[in-house]
Amino acid sequence: QSTMLPLVVLLLLLTETTSGRTEPDTQSTRDGGGGGCITKEREALLSIKACITADPERLLSTWRGQDCCRWEGVRCTNMTTSHVVKLDLHARYIRSSLEGEISSSLEALEHLQHLDLSGNYALTGPGGSLPSFIGSLHDLRYLNLSRLNFSGTVPHQFGNLSRLRYLDLDLSSDDLHSDDLSWLPRLSLLKYLDMSYVDLSATIDWVETVNMLASLEVLRLSWCSLNNTGHFVSRSNLSHLKILDISFNTIETSFDAISWVWDATRLEYLNLEDTGIHGVLPTRLANLSSLQVIQLSGNHLKGMIPDTLTSLCSLRVFELTRNDLEGDITEFIESFNRLMGSLTTSISTLTDLVYLNLGYNQMDGVITKDHFSKLTGLQELHLSANSFTINSDWTPPFRLQSLGLGSCRCGPGFPRWLKSQKNIYSLYLFDAGIADTVPDWFWTVFAKAEVLDLSSNNISGTLPATLGQMDTFWLDLSSNQFNGLVPQLPQNIGTLDLSRNSLSGPLPFNVRSPISIETLILFDNQFTGTIPTSLCQMKSLTVLDIGNNMITGQFPRCSENVAASSGMDPSNIPSPDSDSGSGMPQSMSIETLRLDNNSLADEFPLLLQNCPELTFIDLGQNKLFGSIPAWIGQKLPQLKYLRLRSNMFSGYIPTQLRGLLHLQYLDLAHNDFSGTIPPSLLNMDGVTKTTEIATEDTSSSTSSGVAAVDDGQNPHGTVYRISNSIFAVTKGQEREYIGFFIYMVSLDLSCNHFTGDIPKSIGPASGLVNMNLSLNQLTGKIPESIGLMRSLESLDLSNNQLSGEIPQGLSDLTSLSYLNLSYNNLSGRIPSGHQLGTLSPDDPASMYIGNTGLCGPPLPKSCPGNHTAEKRHFTTSKEGSETMPFCFGLSVGFVVGLWVVFCSLLFKKPWRDIYFRLLDELYDKMYVLLVVNWVRMMGKATATY
Ligand SMILES: *[C@@H]1O[C@H](CO)[C@@H](O)[C@H](O)[C@H]1NC(C)=O
Ligand SMILES: *[C@@H]1O[C@H](CO)[C@@H](O)[C@H](O)[C@H]1NC(C)=O
Ligand SMILES: *[C@@H]1O[C@H](CO)[C@@H](O)[C@H](O)[C@H]1NC(C)=O
Ligand SMILES: *[C@@H]1O[C@H](CO)[C@@H](O)[C@H](O)[C@H]1NC(C)=O
Repeated sequence: QSTMLPLVVLLLLLTETTSGRTEPDTQSTRDGGGGGCITKEREALLSIKACITADPERLLSTWRGQDCCRWEGVRCTNMTTSHVVKLDLHARYIRSSLEGEISSSLEALEHLQHLDLSGNYALTGPGGSLPSFIGSLHDLRYLNLSRLNFSGTVPHQFGNLSRLRYLDLDLSSDDLHSDDLSWLPRLSLLKYLDMSYVDLSATIDWVETVNMLASLEVLRLSWCSLNNTGHFVSRSNLSHLKILDISFNTIETSFDAISWVWDATRLEYLNLEDTGIHGVLPTRLANLSSLQVIQLSGNHLKGMIPDTLTSLCSLRVFELTRNDLEGDITEFIESFNRLMGSLTTSISTLTDLVYLNLGYNQMDGVITKDHFSKLTGLQELHLSANSFTINSDWTPPFRLQSLGLGSCRCGPGFPRWLKSQKNIYSLYLFDAGIADTVPDWFWTVFAKAEVLDLSSNNISGTLPATLGQMDTFWLDLSSNQFNGLVPQLPQNIGTLDLSRNSLSGPLPFNVRSPISIETLILFDNQFTGTIPTSLCQMKSLTVLDIGNNMITGQFPRCSENVAASSGMDPSNIPSPDSDSGSGMPQSMSIETLRLDNNSLADEFPLLLQNCPELTFIDLGQNKLFGSIPAWIGQKLPQLKYLRLRSNMFSGYIPTQLRGLLHLQYLDLAHNDFSGTIPPSLLNMDGVTKTTEIATEDTSSSTSSGVAAVDDGQNPHGTVYRISNSIFAVTKGQEREYIGFFIYMVSLDLSCNHFTGDIPKSIGPASGLVNMNLSLNQLTGKIPESIGLMRSLESLDLSNNQLSGEIPQGLSDLTSLSYLNLSYNNLSGRIPSGHQLGTLSPDDPASMYIGNTGLCGPPLPKSCPGNHTAEKRHFTTSKEGSETMPFCFGLSVGFVVGLWVVFCSLLFKKPWRDIYFRLLDELYDKMYVLLVVNWVRMMGKATATY
């Protein structure tokens, strides 16, 4: 977070200065002497003021007295007539927005040439609409209504504003639409048009319409739901166009169909991001010799980057990556650009280049010094996720600020040329084929870098003793062969991933400002010792994963006086303000806690009482004992995932678990629990309404980066969204974290000493996908309601003492792909039909063996009476299982652990990796946004009208 702050501030500053009241006043204020303004216009202004209900900056407080030409935001002509020609009430900040309604008295200001109400997001028109009376202000040359609060349609009366040069209707919300743009060509003098976010989906002739505006210099139609219906002009007369932004639309056409773009030969800024444009990059692009910014990410580009591009000698920003992550996951993969071939060395002629991003394509070849010899001003270079080989021995002419070479071949030796890149703030060298140690200079040269990703290489050796002097905020060294102890961590570390190495010694909790750390991922190492008490000071920690290490002992007792008991330097420990009085510790931010596969020996950790945000707990495979405390139902209201598998927990399942309304994964297998299964278990809102939870997650997106929206039907129909805060969260890889994905609903109580019946109320918990109650002492009948568990894919009730008949309803479970009822005391005829006949094709009888009373196929024992009817169900079995969606057969029941509705990604490992890498690099996206916004702002600022 701390790193983002300057960027955000900078952005705001840009917004401020460019939208500020900075333009020189052409019409000077009337200086005293005589009449002041015209009475009728003064009264109109006072009526406008009367309709403003809130004015936080007291802008309108100057609106009194006779001479309205002296009022704030009002300008008059210099002539004796003193008409009001300018009204500028734009809001500088969100908090300074005027509130209320625009009065129709505005109409009386007939001579108005300049009207700027922008940024007043709480200001609206009569009935919430965009007021059509603005269309009667015939003299208007400048009209800025951006970021106001309108809904409905754009009034066609705007076509009367024939003197208009500048029109900005970008509300940054999609409440406004326009089905008919026939009024627009009447604004023949228009130079600046921004209708971003206005829904133009019903406007089939948008291409023709905008091409009639021959004076246009700036055209922005971003997020307008533009599509490819209607006519596409072949030639355009937009010869003055400098800025064209039609990004984030579903134009989905070929480059040929938008050939009119290439006629705008004065174009400086071209943004076609996420428009679904396909085809090879046209050579005509080279006609646009004034281009400074090309943004073509997230399309379906293929082929090679043409050599002719070198005529774009003013190019500063060149972006051809895939960087939008919204939409279906398969769609997401398909919407990668697919540029191929090697990078032309003529790119080196683009000497003004500042930003080059070709990441996530399919390019290859060797990158040598010839590519960059003249690119001395390059600041950002992103080539990640291609198959480039980077020449190891060269001296780069540039001083980069950000470099992405993930999945490029940069090794096996550590790339020495990086030594000159002293200005870097983010470096991505993941999966770069480096099999070496990190040279000492690296840690010095990059000591000021905020983001360092060296993950998934073969890097060996120890971590530097100077680590603590670095400024790194995000450090990812996961999946390497680092060994030895972890020294003092960087002062401001926010995210640390050291997982999958061979690090040893005590857990590295040695952060000088424990408040800064948010994500600590240390799994798959050889850390020993106990969990340090300093954990209690890490109030910002949201993800802690120390799974699969050799941690022993007890959990820290946070409520006790920590300063005294911890071995830390007391000066680093914040004063225990609220701790002291009541003895109640401050609450912690932990959301995800994975301590599985260690040797912790304690009762259920008390410190979790102070972690109200916890959604994910994995304490599996330890030596924990005691019972599940009743307080978890109350103190952990967000809990979705609880895994206590393979410990020595005992006692009853507390009925208070019912309080966990979101619990959808409960694994208590291989413990010593006893008693009956509480009827309310997993029978909660959270389970039956998975979709709702997911939707909720998407909208609230406070810290969860990605939320999956599952329609509950089709695992492939899952929608993933990335929130703005993605840079602050961790990636999942094989350990998917709750909050990122909605995983399956599962109940595993196997291998305990549960007795009594299977509760009937478990049936309606129809979100359940996996249920394993095997190896207990359950008695009674299998409840009929089991037939209602339509999403069940795996059911294991084996090794109990269940009796009675198998409910016929079992055959209604059409999703079922695993069933085991063996070794019970079931009797009667085995039901048949639907899915049942296709299960366990190799040995169908093993689903039912050990039940002396059962009869009928697939068991050899035939039932008394007619036994031919069912036979055929068990012969065609193999075929059936193969035609199941590939996700099912392999999913639940066979794999212990967390399963997400993320099947396609799990199956295609390379894609999965790339997906998560992309999340990492989104951090950089902020910079892109900055550049793009900067250009955008500049566009606004310099537009003449
Ligand atoms: C008033 O403005 C006009 C053009 O806007 C200009 O030509 C004229 O010189 C100005 N007169 C005075 C007295 O400033
Ligand atoms: C098995 O079930 C029958 C009733 O179906 C019951 O009479 C018998 O006692 C049960 N046996 C065991 C060992 O539970
Ligand atoms: C069902 O469980 C029993 C006992 O655990 C096992 O022997 C049998 O192979 C299982 N059947 C299937 C189909 O997995
Ligand atoms: C159910 O649990 C038992 C014991 O933990 C295990 O052996 C069995 O494989 C599980 N069944 C399924 C379908 O996962």
